[in-house]
Amino acid sequence: GKVRAPTHIISTISDDRGEEPTYAGVAMSSIVEQGLGVGDVLSLLWFKRSLPHYCTRFIEICVMLCADHGPCVSGAHNTIVTARAGKDLVSSLVSGLLTIGPRFGGAIDDAARYFKDAYERGLAPYEFVEIMKKKGIRVPGIGHRIKRGDNRDKRVELLQQYARSNFPSVKYMEYAVEVEAYTLSKANNLVLNVDGAIGSLFLDLLAGSGMFTKQEIDEIVEIGYLNGLFVLARSVGLIGHTFDQKRLKQPLYRHPWEDVLYTK
Ligand code: ACO
Ligand code: LMR
Repeated sequence: GKVRAPTHIISTISDDRGEEPTYAGVAMSSIVEQGLGVGDVLSLLWFKRSLPHYCTRFIEICVMLCADHGPCVSGAHNTIVTARAGKDLVSSLVSGLLTIGPRFGGAIDDAARYFKDAYERGLAPYEFVEIMKKKGIRVPGIGHRIKRGDNRDKRVELLQQYARSNFPSVKYMEYAVEVEAYTLSKANNLVLNVDGAIGSLFLDLLAGSGMFTKQEIDEIVEIGYLNGLFVLARSVGLIGHTFDQKRLKQPLYRHPWEDVLYTK
């Protein structure tokens, strides 16, 4: 019979060998003809399946709402400083992207992990928060530098509104909202942030769509797909900040001495 040489790479998401490239088996012409969008393409390349429209629309809303948050946040600041140092687009972009992590934009996966685990163990929201406190771990998805109980994050409200009207179930989101109610009773800055909103709502999307087995959901959460949403979204804004600085011909950035506490 046929002897096949062993390959060095295995790939399962796309194929460019035929007449036209396919994403998870779907031809590009079909994607265009059906009028599909970025959310559909993301579903094919990340989840290897077509998701219902309300899911792909949710993904697109996440991308739109997280695309930028002004020049002062960690990522944009790094990108602006790098662009002003005369670096190219890719360097300026990745300089900003490198700030995405547990404090800034990259708490989505941990929020999903901790909310899922706490919900499945049947922990009351206050028990969950107190256990985290005892362990000395900040609750991922909770807290914001400038948002407050009396000045909520509009992005969180918009995502919640969309899910309430379109998702079959929002049980993880409701759990996160109960966690927020408890943390807000402790301090006014401990709001559910956009990472926590996306983390909990994506659990609802995965579980409620009927498109994923329990094992697949566990794997998605364990591998950590969801920070990818913020990385993807914020790239749009960071690229914009790079062009903005170049367009404005901004000089090399130097931080003012007055804004540094020089001390021993
Ligand atoms: N869980 C428990 N306690 C918290 C949390 C949290 N998530 N966040 C802040 N606190 C507490 C702190 O322990 C601190 O209490 P203390 O003074 O008694 O020690 C108090 O609230 C104030 O904390 P600060 O460090 O001043 O808060 P800061 O504004 O610097 O932090 C941050 C904001 C980084 C977002 C923080 O809330 C946090 O680490 N949250 C978890 C990670 C997260 O969700 N990040 C995503 C943010 S959204 C985004 O980036 C798009
Ligand atoms: C963001 O999306 O960049 C923000 O939530 C972070 C911030 O500090 O405002």
